[in-house]
Parts: sequence; structure tokens; C-alpha cells
Amino acid sequence: MKSEEIRQYFLEFFEKRGHKIIPSSSLIPEDDPSVLLTTAGMQQFKKYFTREKDPIKDFGTQRVASIQKCFRTTDIEEIGDERHLSFFEMLGNFSFGPIVNDDPNDYGIGGYFKKASINWAYEFLKSLGLKIDYVSVFKGENNIPFDEESYNVWISLGFKKEDIKKFGKEDNFWGPTGEEGPCGPTTEIYIDNIEVWNLVFNEYYQTADKKLEKLKYPGVDTGMGFERLMKVLQKTPTIFETDLFEPLRTYVLNEKPDIAERDLRIILDHTRGAVFLIADGVRPSNLERGYILRRILRRLMLKLKIWDILSKKDVFIKAVIDKFKNIYKEIDNYDKIKEVIDKEFRGFEKTLERGLREFNKRINGNEKEEELGEKLFVLYTSFGLPLEISKELLKNMNIEITENSINIFNKLFKEHQKISKNI
Ligand code: ALA
Repeated sequence: MKSEEIRQYFLEFFEKRGHKIIPSSSLIPEDDPSVLLTTAGMQQFKKYFTREKDPIKDFGTQRVASIQKCFRTTDIEEIGDERHLSFFEMLGNFSFGPIVNDDPNDYGIGGYFKKASINWAYEFLKSLGLKIDYVSVFKGENNIPFDEESYNVWISLGFKKEDIKKFGKEDNFWGPTGEEGPCGPTTEIYIDNIEVWNLVFNEYYQTADKKLEKLKYPGVDTGMGFERLMKVLQKTPTIFETDLFEPLRTYVLNEKPDIAERDLRIILDHTRGAVFLIADGVRPSNLERGYILRRILRRLMLKLKIWDILSKKDVFIKAVIDKFKNIYKEIDNYDKIKEVIDKEFRGFEKTLERGLREFNKRINGNEKEEELGEKLFVLYTSFGLPLEISKELLKNMNIEITENSINIFNKLFKEHQKISKNI
């Protein structure tokens, strides 16, 4: 099955069970200054979990489902391996309390909890022919009790004790996003050793000073990584071979069949990420969201340049737009997206060209840690080559920059700033 069909299938599955389908919110969170970007499906529903808003009044049901555009920046440096992404889609079903009926056979509109949500997750995956390897539940920690209820639901579904792992707060407790918000113990579902679905039982509210308070009503917040789901469904070696990265992947490979896998993944991830951020109104700058976009655009440009496919950029942008425009109408805006990328690329082109030239001239890969830090500092201050671009270039030479080199860079940079300020 193609991703387009699975999206539809997921939404229909939950619609049938009393959920109202809510469109994805923007990647720029509305009304939530505590986070730069939307990182989870529950974000647009925070106020329904706290009951500052009434779901019945707004949705006519206590149950909603969505496919949310998400962007996580914690892992930006890791992108290029098999599993990290900046932009991704999250499939989720949500229940806002009070609990009215937790029976999975109840297709009404009332709030549900662990039994219904676990049963539905199980049923949904099974209906796709997927077999769960194992699941995890919260073992109890820091005065928060063991989640016996979830454990028993899995037992009732025929899971063996050894296939229900118990973990602590680090692994099986989720949230909040940003400084404060709803959070709670989770049960997580693994297929082919990949965590595919996270079911969060929001029983708590973490305050800004990190205290946990019981929410008035418990709720359900689930999130299934769409790329991961498609990987296990389409049985691809990694997420990057799923149809979610087509036709872009094919286009890049047609141009450069020998492209390094890591660079290919960065191009796939960053092109998607940039298109979606720009479509939601983010513009490159040196601050916050804008800086995130700037970083991914610059790294994208570097990769396209190194592989001599910069001239194909517009075709690549179009490939992403065409793949997703029927689902996310806002990205059907080729001219604007291209204009923003062109402007950033134009602004960075001279710096990048000169930086690359100087980098190749000055760095031979045999530098001692201190010397490397010094050279990168010169590349940055005299030629404007950002440290993260230098790091990428070093990675291409199979050199991981060490803590020591970075410290030298930072030390020199601080001194340099002091001198500049005194002038
Ligand atoms: N909010 C939960 C997550 O992001 C489902 O994993």
C-alpha cells in the first residue's frame, strides 16, 4: 500500500470510532511561545487536555485524530544516519477526558482511556498485516505508579510477560512539549525493533517549575511516526526508501547514482524540511526558527554543490511539492518556496564557494586537534565558512571533529568577539 492510502485508512479507522478528523496545524505553533516549532500531534490540543477548551463544543466529540506535520531540531546533527529526520508526519488519535467509555467496541463520542486505545492500536496494526515484536510499559518511578492497567490490557491481548518490557521515566514517560504542559506514562509498540507507535496517557500536568500535578481528567495522546510505519509496511531497508521520499530519491539517484548514502539522506530530509517550513511562513534568518531553516538550507546547498547537482534544485523542490500538495495544500506554492530558497542560496553562494576553496587549500586531514580548531576558526572569521559546514566537510573526509578542537575554536572565537567589541 502507498502512503496516500495508509493516511486515508488511518483516518477512516478512527473516524469510524467516533473521532473527528482535524487537519494538521502549522509547523509554527499558534499560541504557544514555549516551543519554536510543532514537534508533536498533541500540541494543537494542549488546551483540550487541560479543559481550558471544551472538545464537545468545538468538535462535537471528545475524540479526534490527525496527521500532523512535525519538525524536530534536537537531532539535526544526526541526520544522515538510518533513522533521524527533521521533518516528519505523525499519525495520532486523541481522547480528552472525562473518560466516558473505555470499551473498544464503543464507537461513540465519549472520552476513552487505556483499554480502548491499546486495543485499537493493536487492531489497526494487525489489520495491516503487521506483527508487533514487543511493547513497553511504564514500570513506576519517582512516586508515579507502575502502569498495571496497560500491562494487563496487553496480557488480555495475548502478549507474553517477556514481550511486555518495563521501563522507567527516561523511556516510558512522555512530555511535556516546551516548558510546561500535559504529560504522562506511555506504552510503546515495537515492530522490527523500531518504535512505531507511542501511546501517551496524559494524567499529569508538568508546571513551569517542573512539578507534576494531576490533570483534572486523564486523556490519551498517541503518535505514530509515519515514515517508520511505512518502512515496516513497505519492508524497505530504511525509511528513506519508502515512497514518502519519492520521486525525489529517484531523481537524485538518476543524476548521481554513486552519491554517498549519508549525503543522499541529508538532501532528502532537508529538501522536505525546507519546503514545509517555508510553506508555513518561516524565513531564513539568524534567529530561532529562521536560523533552523537557514542551517538546513545551507547544508542542503553544500551537498548539492559538492555533488554538482545544484542546477537540479528546482526539480527537487517540485518533486516534494508534487508528492505532498494534495495532502497539505499550503505547500502548493512553488513560486514563493523557490523564491525564498533562491534568495538564501544566492546570499550564501560566494561565501560557500570561497569557503570550500579555502577549506580544500588549508585542511589536509592530518591536523592535530588544536591546529584543526585554529584553522576552522580562520575559515570562519576570515572567510565566513560556518563551523557546521566545516564539520560536514570533515565528515566527508571521515573525520569526526573532537571536543578539543571545538573548544579551541570557541576559545579563539570568544577572544575575537572581545576584540571586535573593543574596537
Ligand atoms: N506526543 C507523543 C509523541 O510525540 C505521542 O511521541
